[in-house]
Amino acid sequence: MSENMLQDIQEVLFTEEQIAKMVERVGAEISRDYKDKNLLLVSVLKGSVVFMADLMRAITIPARIDFMATSSYGSGVKTSGVVKILKDLDLELSGYDILMVEDILDSGKTLSYLTELLQSRGPKSIRVCTLFDKPERREVEVEAAYVGSQIPDAFIVGYGLDFDEKYRNLPFVGVLKPCVYE
Ligand code: IMP
Ligand code: MG
Repeated sequence: MSENMLQDIQEVLFTEEQIAKMVERVGAEISRDYKDKNLLLVSVLKGSVVFMADLMRAITIPARIDFMATSSYGSGVKTSGVVKILKDLDLELSGYDILMVEDILDSGKTLSYLTELLQSRGPKSIRVCTLFDKPERREVEVEAAYVGSQIPDAFIVGYGLDFDEKYRNLPFVGVLKPCVYE
């Protein structure tokens, strides 16, 4: 692993093993709850792609997947509140029980906008699964039915999460040194 990336990490918040356990637990909960449903996992690119790849294999019932891409932080660390659809879903949503798969729930603006948008397309149901949740930072009310772990208000990277499109390939989750983005 590049020393450059590791030098920018203040502390490791979750090791690979800890993340794997969270994903197993959430996958088991989803498998139990969606047994008699028509599950469609919707991943919001790019941050949730690593979580999605692991989560779908921790789900033991039939499931479909689809992807969408939105504009996010750019190179900053705060959401603008304006969500732009860069890539829409391929599937029509009617008849599906949608589970939005997100990397992290912060202000809630992104997911609040997206769940409303997808709701308007008439799925059977729509709920949210997020690997990490920063409840202290919420500005818009969004409830996640499944949460890997709540975390304190710090900027984290790794396991798909980026700063300026970097650090997504770290296998663990760490707190980024503030000097990197300040
Ligand atoms: P929200 O709209 O403020 O809830 O922002 C959610 C999005 O912001 C996530 O999907 C991430 O792309 C990004 N984000 C929020 N917090 C972090 C963080 O700590 N590290 C990396 N990305 C983050
Ligand atoms: Mg991001």
